[in-house]
Amino acid sequence: MGASNIEQELSLYNSSILANLNFAGSPATFNPSISADNPGEPWLKVRPLQTGDFHRGFLQILSQLTAVGNVSLAQFLNRFAQMRASGDYFVTVIVDTRSDKIIGSATLVLEHKFIHGCSVRGRLEDVVVDDTYRGKQLGKLIVVTVSLLAQRLGCYKMSLDCKDKLIPFYKSIGYVLEPGNSNTMNIRYEQPSAAVSANHTSGSEPTLPIDPS
Ligand SMILES: CC(C)(COP(=O)(O)OP(=O)(O)OC[C@H]1O[C@@H](n2cnc3c(N)ncnc32)[C@H](O)[C@@H]1OP(=O)(O)O)[C@@H](O)C(=O)NCCC(=O)NCCS
Repeated sequence: MGASNIEQELSLYNSSILANLNFAGSPATFNPSISADNPGEPWLKVRPLQTGDFHRGFLQILSQLTAVGNVSLAQFLNRFAQMRASGDYFVTVIVDTRSDKIIGSATLVLEHKFIHGCSVRGRLEDVVVDDTYRGKQLGKLIVVTVSLLAQRLGCYKMSLDCKDKLIPFYKSIGYVLEPGNSNTMNIRYEQPSAAVSANHTSGSEPTLPIDPS
């Protein structure tokens, strides 16, 4: 099934929040000047992930970043629906409209805190540009897009993990290694067990009052 056969495509989030992002206020420099609204070519489009992007090579693009595995359409749509319902996932893509293919992607994830007055932190995840389109500012374009989106959505900061060789790339976009606070540590689970649902809405949990006062 081609992407054009999908009758009702859903967007992961409302595309209007990508309009008029303040690229002039970003520390990144673009030469020539481009933005999410005007990506430099009439056939380039920056937009939220859509359900039909399964057929536009979205997972193939991600496989240039890391192992994706054999993800079925049903699995993709299920994960898409979870992300969409949460309202915290802003998977943003670049499309080559000539071929109707996804050629780049980056994700902003919102992390809700109790600290800093119940603030929100942004996490930059899964940045990739198709290898035949690299070196044309599209990596910078997609990262700056989701970084400005984080700012627009009220995040107090945006963080990322990257390989050492990509530090210059992210520095050129305004990300800094903060002295004394620049370590990433991981623990890896070789054989993840079946996920246990932590959803409290389906059980016999008491309902929280909306207004506790
Ligand atoms: C990293 C990546 C997204 C960059 O995409 P791109 O479209 O080639 O990047 P741009 O053309 O916007 O490059 C922006 C700047 O970063 C530099 N840069 C790009 N890739 C770089 C790399 N791998 N190492 C060092 N610098 C790099 C460019 O030279 C350019 O510098 P300039 O602004 O001084 O000219 C792309 O190489 C990619 O998809 N890599 C594989 C996946 C990956 O590693 N993702 C990052 C995970 S943290």
